[in-house]
Amino acid sequence: MTTSSAPGKVYLFGEHAVVYGEPAVPCAVERRARVTAEPRDDDRVRVDAGDLTLDGFTVTWGGDVDERPDVDAPPKLVAAATRYVDEAVQQTRAAIDDETQGFDITVESDIPLGAGIGSSAAVVVAAIDAATRSVGVELAPETVAERAFQAEYAAQDGQASRADTFCSAMGGAVRVEGDDTRTLDAPPLPFVIGYDGGAGETGELVASVRDLRERHSFAADTVEAIGELTRTGEELLAAAADGGLSTDRLDRLGELMDVDHGLLSALGVSARSLDAMVWAARDGGAHGAKLTGAGGGGCVVALDRTDGTERSLSLTPECEQAFRAELATEGVRVESP
Ligand code: MEV
Repeated sequence: MTTSSAPGKVYLFGEHAVVYGEPAVPCAVERRARVTAEPRDDDRVRVDAGDLTLDGFTVTWGGDVDERPDVDAPPKLVAAATRYVDEAVQQTRAAIDDETQGFDITVESDIPLGAGIGSSAAVVVAAIDAATRSVGVELAPETVAERAFQAEYAAQDGQASRADTFCSAMGGAVRVEGDDTRTLDAPPLPFVIGYDGGAGETGELVASVRDLRERHSFAADTVEAIGELTRTGEELLAAAADGGLSTDRLDRLGELMDVDHGLLSALGVSARSLDAMVWAARDGGAHGAKLTGAGGGGCVVALDRTDGTERSLSLTPECEQAFRAELATEGVRVESP
C-alpha cells in the first residue's frame, strides 16, 4: 500500500488562453489530494472516494463503464471522477507495462472538486505516483506530469493543456506554453482564495471559449491579449523573485490579475458569484483579484498580505469559504511508501 499526495493550484495568469498555445503561470498551493493505491490480484479497479467535497462514494469496475453499479452520489460526479481515475490507471498500466494490473484506490482531498483549484489534476498526479510505486516502479515527477496530462487530456476529451498537471507534479510556480513546460523562481505570493461552494464544467467551458473564438475575431484577440499580459506578469514575477516582492510589484501584478479577470469575463467564463467575490476582494484591499481555473463557478484568487480580503470575502453572501493559501514549493510526494 502506497500513499502519494499532490497539490492543487491557482492560476496567477493565463487559464483558457493556454489551451491555444499562449503562456500561463499556475502556482501550486498547499491544499493537497492524497491517493492510496494497493495492487489487487485481479484486473479490477476499486475506488473509494469518501471525501470528495460532495457525498462520497465507492465504486468497483472492470474497466467497462456499463459494469459500474449505481451509487449514492450525483451520476455526473461519479462518471467524471471515475473517468479521471480510470485514465490514471490506464497510464499506470502503460508505465508498469502490465495491462491487467488491478488496484484498490482511496482518494482523500482537501481541494474542492471542479472549483478551479486543480482537484482533478492533483488526484490524477497522486494516483499515478502512488499506483506505480505500489508495484515497485518509481517515476520522475516530469514523467508523472506527462502521464497525468495524457490521462486528463483523455478524461476531458482533448480539452486540456499541460498546465494543471505539470504544476501539480512539480510544485511552485510554473510556466506552460504549448509543450514547453518549466518551473519558475517565485517569491512567497500572499494568495487569498474565495470559494462559492460550486463548480464549473471544465470541458464545457473550454468548448464554449473555442466556439466563441472561432466565431468572433474579438475573442481570438482577447485570447492573445491574455497571452501578452501573462508575459508581462512573468517579467514582474522574475523581478520580484530576484529583488523582493515590494508593494509596487504587488500592485502591478494585481493590476494584471484584474485585467485578466475582465478578459476572461469577456470570453464568457465568469459567473455572478465569481464577479461578486472578485469585487469583495478588491473592496477588502486586495492588490488584484480574478477567477481561477475554468470558471463558471468555484474559486477566485486575490493577492493581499493583510487580512482585509479574507474578512471582506467572508462577509460576502456569495462566498462560502475564504482562506489563505501558501505557495506549495513541493509537487507530488510520497506520504507513506
Ligand atoms: C482549467 O483548470 C484550466 C483551463 O485553461 C483548461 C486547461 O488548461 O486544461 C481552462
